[in-house]
Amino acid sequence: MAFSIRTRLTFWYVTLLTVSLIGFGAAFSYSLLKIYMYRTDNQISSVANMMVHTVVKPSGQMFLPRDFDIILERFFGIRTAGNYIQVLDPLGQTVARSSNLESMKLPITRDTYHAAVNGATTFEIIRNIGRYPVRVVTKPIFVPDKGLVAIVQVGSSLEEVDEVFHSLAYIFMLGVAASVVIAGAVGWFLAKKALKPVSEITKLARKIGAENLNERITIEVPNDEIGRLATTINEMFGRLEKSFKQIKQFTGDASHELKTPLTILKGEMEIALRSKDGIEAMREALKSSLEEIDRMNYIVRNLLDLAKMDVEKEALPKESVDLDRLLKERLDHFRRHALDSGVELYILKSIPVIVRGDRVRISQLFSNLMDNAIKYTPRGGTVKLSLSDEDGRAVFRVMDTGVGISKEDAPYIFDRFYRVDKARSRDVGGAGLGLSICKGIAEAHGGTLEVESAPSRGSTFTLKLPLAAVTAV
Ligand SMILES: Nc1ncnc2c1ncn2[C@@H]1O[C@H](COP(=O)(O)OP(=O)(O)OP(=O)(O)O)[C@@H](O)[C@H]1O
Ligand SMILES: [Mg+2]
Repeated sequence: MAFSIRTRLTFWYVTLLTVSLIGFGAAFSYSLLKIYMYRTDNQISSVANMMVHTVVKPSGQMFLPRDFDIILERFFGIRTAGNYIQVLDPLGQTVARSSNLESMKLPITRDTYHAAVNGATTFEIIRNIGRYPVRVVTKPIFVPDKGLVAIVQVGSSLEEVDEVFHSLAYIFMLGVAASVVIAGAVGWFLAKKALKPVSEITKLARKIGAENLNERITIEVPNDEIGRLATTINEMFGRLEKSFKQIKQFTGDASHELKTPLTILKGEMEIALRSKDGIEAMREALKSSLEEIDRMNYIVRNLLDLAKMDVEKEALPKESVDLDRLLKERLDHFRRHALDSGVELYILKSIPVIVRGDRVRISQLFSNLMDNAIKYTPRGGTVKLSLSDEDGRAVFRVMDTGVGISKEDAPYIFDRFYRVDKARSRDVGGAGLGLSICKGIAEAHGGTLEVESAPSRGSTFTLKLPLAAVTAV
């Protein structure tokens, strides 16, 4: 079962707190117990030592009247301080007991007895006498020449420590329970606050569609993790919005471009049908219609090219293309066209440069640039071509002395259907797709296409493609 991040965060937070509190409590109690035991042991040891020196005579005989503890306290100033005192004979039989023991007896285990016989002192906790456990020291008394004469046991009730620990445990458990409940509630609240932007993102992402792509997530703290996530998502919305706008624009432009020739075509046909002028007029109408069909054909072909390029980007053929040869081929192709347009077209410089890519596409790129240069250069102008290599890139330039492009138009000429002078472009047959195809081809090959231009002085288009190899001329 998957829990929400908020539940998980709170759970871990509370678990961690509980474990640390219990760990701390255990360490604290253990240290306290150690200190208390140390002090108790010292105290019962010193009473046991005093007993040894007071009750045993150098002859080995013992001075042990009834109520010896009271006598010890009154006459010898030995403070038994409520300790239980018991004296055993070497066989382990009780010889005397302090009055506070009354009918009780401090038990001695076999192990403790054996330890005493062997001269060792034992500290232990005895639980089965009275209400509270008792800390007992068992100490043997040896006299020179006589050996073991007695065993002294001194016990101290652990009543105090038992009560302190019970109260501590009680307070501690209450404290842990209260802390866990408070921490859980605060953690739950904090997690909600911290994750609020995530819920907002979810809500927004759920309601966003093509119509409201302009909506953005409100970011309160832009520099934390969630803020950065929200910024990234906002940027993504921005890109989506831009792409959507482009697609809308493109669809609108494409339908418009195709509608114009269709309207003309329809008009021509209607006139021809209504006309009574005979075969010649009919021919004229058909000729004009054919031109419009050609234009539509041209647009549709280019649109298909663009669509294909978007899909093919990754899968372009990678053959070696000699740009020098390609350029000369293209020049031969355009020579006639340039001549007809009264434009001088020639190669200024060309060296054999090889790039890897799609020969047909690069040839299309060259053609489009040369076609534009001739198209937008008035009679008497010049179009110069140059091919070289710079910094590991093949550089192809088309320089014309044509109409040029203004600074305002320059950023848009690579957009689909963008034409500077729409009326004039229609005369010369342009649809405004050539340069966007060129740019698409350049980018698909890892290259760039840029323009530098000044109105009525001319333009220079510069294509740069990554070089495969350079062969010396
Ligand atoms: N060499 C140039 N000199 C001046 N303007 C140019 C030149 N090349 C392109 N342009 C301008 O940029 C616009 C876009 O060029 P693009 O090649 O994309 O379209 P087009 O030539 O009008 O039509 P198409 O290439 O689709 O037949 C052109 O309409 C023209 O205004
Ligand atoms: Mg063009």
